[in-house]
Amino acid sequence: MEIIRAGEIMLTDPAHQRLPHEPAYGLGAAFIADRFCPLIEATIPITDCGFMHADAVYDVVSVSRGSFFRLEQHQARFARSCDAIRVRNPFGREEEAEILHKIVALAGLRDAYVWWTVTRGLPPLGRGDMIDADRFESRFYAFAAPFIFVADDEQRARGLDVIVSRERVRISPRAVDPRAKNFHWLDMQMALFEAGDRGAEWSVLPDEDGYLTEAAGANVFVVRDGTVLTPDAGCLEGITRESVFDLCAELGIPSKATRVRASELPDAQEVFLTTTAGSIMPVRSVDGELVGGRDGPGEISTALHNHYWERRWAGWDATPVRYDLAI
Ligand SMILES: Cc1ncc(COP(=O)(O)O)c(C=O)c1O
Repeated sequence: MEIIRAGEIMLTDPAHQRLPHEPAYGLGAAFIADRFCPLIEATIPITDCGFMHADAVYDVVSVSRGSFFRLEQHQARFARSCDAIRVRNPFGREEEAEILHKIVALAGLRDAYVWWTVTRGLPPLGRGDMIDADRFESRFYAFAAPFIFVADDEQRARGLDVIVSRERVRISPRAVDPRAKNFHWLDMQMALFEAGDRGAEWSVLPDEDGYLTEAAGANVFVVRDGTVLTPDAGCLEGITRESVFDLCAELGIPSKATRVRASELPDAQEVFLTTTAGSIMPVRSVDGELVGGRDGPGEISTALHNHYWERRWAGWDATPVRYDLAI
């Protein structure tokens, strides 16, 4: 079985064709605190704590063939992220959804990467104010841009070359809770540079005790004895990860979240990564060794990838974009 070339379909199939939009929204649309603008004009104040201290939570949802995927689940996770870092979302759930719909509509996108955040905002200036969460004025920012795969059709078709980081561990959940999708990225970014240094293209991070946590910006899965396994701690509870559990149930493949030792990765039958901006991304090699002795994606990874896109385009948990909001 071959990987569905979802990126090519998005570019060529009329069902994905972009709708008419103002030329200024060519690169996408944004919402900055209280107003909509072209993405190219979107800026934030330099003193925003999100920028200065990575003091922010965010979420990313995708749109394909004109519909959001699992929008409610993304919004619910975002609300939990806000609570976890004690930041107040200035908008309620419906207002937030309307902003997300409108930025996609303004840009006329049928396939979109939709990102939004609430930052701690501008710091209060008085003495002692930094210890009072209520004294900060949080700020909401969002943008929608054309969907681009973080691993393109060719990479997903041949499988990614991945390393297990030796230089970095994922930050401890006691330091920064990875279940709150947050701006802390340095551990993952440095591990990505390590992948580049070692001739690979992606990185997976262990914790201090050698257990797998997640990949840079993605969850990690291994297939062992026909069962699909993913770490149960130290990672973001990815919406694509959750979708993999659902797809496995539909396909009759056993799956569960459990502790997985990083050292098991090279001996797995299959390995794959999941993230909203990449869907299900098969892995070809770990630390230079072919996974399962095979030069290419395994059967289960391919079946899950293809089922994911077939189900999505058939309307799975889909919320049609309200394109009328652009008028
Ligand atoms: C650290 C991290 N883990 C996992 C994921 C995957 O989550 P989702 O499937 O919800 O996109 C992401 C997505 O950006 C992430 O940043």
